[in-house]
Order: sequence, then C-alpha cells, then structure tokens
Amino acid sequence: MIRPLIVPLISLLAASAVSAAHAAEPIIDAARAQDLARQHACFGCHAVDKKLVGPAYRDVAARYAGKSGALATLVAHVQNGTSGTWGAVPMPPNQISAADAQTVVQWILAGSKPN
Ligand code: HEC
Repeated sequence: MIRPLIVPLISLLAASAVSAAHAAEPIIDAARAQDLARQHACFGCHAVDKKLVGPAYRDVAARYAGKSGALATLVAHVQNGTSGTWGAVPMPPNQISAADAQTVVQWILAGSKPN
C-alpha cells in the first residue's frame, strides 16, 4: 500500500539532497583570491604549479582533497604560520584577516584556477 508513495518520496529527497550539496559549494572568486595573494606576498613563497619556498598550491589542493575541516585548518595555518608538513622550512604568520585567508584558501583548494 505504502510502497508506491515511498519510491517517489525517496527520489525526491535524493534530488533535493543533491541540489542542497550543490548550493553549499563555496563560490570561488578567483580574481579576488589572486589579488589578495599578491597583496599579502603569498606568491613570494608559493606558485600554483611548482614548489618555491612553500609547496605548490596544486599540491596543497591534492593533499587536502576531500578532507573535512581542511578549509578551517588551512585558514588558521595561513594566519598563524605552520611547520613540519611539507619540509624543514616553516611558514611564518601572515597579516591577513580570516575572511581574506578563507577566500584565498578556497581558491587554492578548488585547484587555483586562473579566473
Ligand atoms: C615566507 C614564505 C611564505 C609566505 C609569505 C607564505 N607562505 Fe604559505 N607556506 C610556506 C611554507 C614554507 C609552507 C610549508 C610549511 C610546512 O611544511 O608546514 C607553507 C604552507 C602553506 C599552506 C599549506 C599549509 C598546510 O598546513 O599544509 C598553505 C595553504 C599556504 N602556505 C598558503 C599561503 C598563503 C595563502 C599565503 C599568503 C597569505 C602564504 N602561504 C604565504 C611559506 C610561505
């Protein structure tokens, strides 16, 4: 009796779960992220696709892909500095707001696309 109702209900729920997940994806502002990275001298130590003083942003994205909490962890590491994950050289603290650091880290985690 109930089954004919349940099946469409489940597909409806699944469909709305998918669109909700989609809506939760951060909007990446690549232009602003790169402006901020330039202003805060991130590119003095980082490049997108090769290691400089710090790891390539592509490698950062690969290491943290699918890890929950990566955004918050990396925002804190960018603000406070961090060491020991990529090699012997530490990253010093950066004078950047949490909101701006989040804009840059979201762009990094999404693959550092040009625009
Ligand atoms: C003086 C050089 C230097 C500057 C400036 C710098 N970084 Fe780093 N960054 C590093 C080094 C070195 C590491 C690797 C630290 C480690 O091994 O844990 C690193 C690591 C990182 C990581 C990965 C952290 C982790 O826990 O895996 C991110 C993300 C990052 N930097 C983003 C930024 C951003 C954004 C800026 C600008 C606001 C910035 N960096 C400025 C040198 C720098």
